[in-house]
Amino acid sequence: MEKLVITGKTPLKGEVVISGAKNAAVAIIPATLLINGVCRIENVPNISDVRLYCEILEELGAKITWETEHEITVDTRKIDPHKVPLDTTRKFRASYYLLGALLGRCKFAQVSSPGGCNLGARPIDQHIKSFEALGATVDVSNGKITAKAKKLKGTSVYMDVVSVGATINAILAAVLAEGTTIIDNAAKEPHIVDVANFLNTMGADIRGAGTDIIKVHGVKELKGDATYSIVPDQIEAGTFMIAAIASKGDITIKNCITKHLESITAKIVEIGGNVDANGDHLRVWYSKRTHKATIKTLPYPGFPTDLQPQMGVLLSISEGTSIINESIWESRFQYTVELNKMGANITAQGKTAVFEGVKGLTAAPVYASDLRAGAALIIAGIIANGKTEIYNLNHIDRGYENIEEKFRKLGAKIERVVEE
Ligand code: EPZ
Repeated sequence: MEKLVITGKTPLKGEVVISGAKNAAVAIIPATLLINGVCRIENVPNISDVRLYCEILEELGAKITWETEHEITVDTRKIDPHKVPLDTTRKFRASYYLLGALLGRCKFAQVSSPGGCNLGARPIDQHIKSFEALGATVDVSNGKITAKAKKLKGTSVYMDVVSVGATINAILAAVLAEGTTIIDNAAKEPHIVDVANFLNTMGADIRGAGTDIIKVHGVKELKGDATYSIVPDQIEAGTFMIAAIASKGDITIKNCITKHLESITAKIVEIGGNVDANGDHLRVWYSKRTHKATIKTLPYPGFPTDLQPQMGVLLSISEGTSIINESIWESRFQYTVELNKMGANITAQGKTAVFEGVKGLTAAPVYASDLRAGAALIIAGIIANGKTEIYNLNHIDRGYENIEEKFRKLGAKIERVVEE
């Protein structure tokens, strides 16, 4: 079994370069299925969710060539929607994008009920609502979701909840539909804009992504024959911003879009950290002990839920009593149990947690319950007194590329070891 071993009390110093966005890549790769042609994608994060998606596309008949570690050419001229490897689709959440893409291209799609991080109930009713509004029939039984349609017709769909996944799936299903689809109360995350920009580069006609009303004018075919570069990862950049302050360090974060980081920048400055934005990079540095704050996670441009656990680590050592309200997921405080083993003083109940700031953390063996909880525990290990061991690395590898190498370059004493 693999574990990370971290010797703490290390201020992080230096530069880190951000990879392509995981939540854009795991939507853009299935979106290639809408193309009756070949396309090239750059700045692809080399993470396990991406590699899994490439395997699925190859099972469907696509040809994928890794031109470099971060560039792929995808040929989706010949695909068979009946060849979806159901076992593989159960392993991660974003497999639900196969529904929108294959329904859009082939008018038939079947996947197993999606897996992914255990953050409480993760319904897909809004995805199904969009497919049915476009004219599809959707059956959910025997652990499978099957969507079929004779034809798809543009329509208006109002999202009852602001959902990243449902917004993207509605776009995917509408790109080749007859007529115009209006998606109202859409999510506005940067990765949604990235998916729309990718599809428009390949011949689609999508307007308004990044606002709460998106219009998709259906087109006959996407020819592809173009190149697209994936947006830098907002959440990876935010993770390193928090690590800089929590470790009392000074980091320059390169290849990021500072606009996407405004909510986290504002919160770090509010509690006493320093941030200097400059073009495509940010300098983040510590100058004094941070103090308490109240945070409510919200859809973009609000404070991202995917930075909540990392911020929890910083608030656990900040002066005073802090409160986090997790408005998106039912159970995203599992990491607090592990932090309390490290000497934090956190009380979590349902969607709210109270952090009584302590002077410092102490090392312990801890377990990552999901991707972002794993990132939070790495930050905790880097600041704790002693040697921390982190288990369940599969969660972390799903969404962070070479994370221990990136932290090591910033001075962290971190290594991945195989425990006999
Ligand atoms: C995406 O998940 C991200 N995953 C999540 O990141 C992220 O936490 C989440 O958006 C919110 O930002 C990917 O992009 C692959 P939602 P998604 O649909 O699409 C409810 C990470 O760490 N809802 O925006 O599954 C839902 O229960 C992961 O990278 C419905 O009720 O999230 C939740 O409360 C973890 N019905 C809220 O909406 C639906 O049909 C937001 O969920 C869909 C969602």
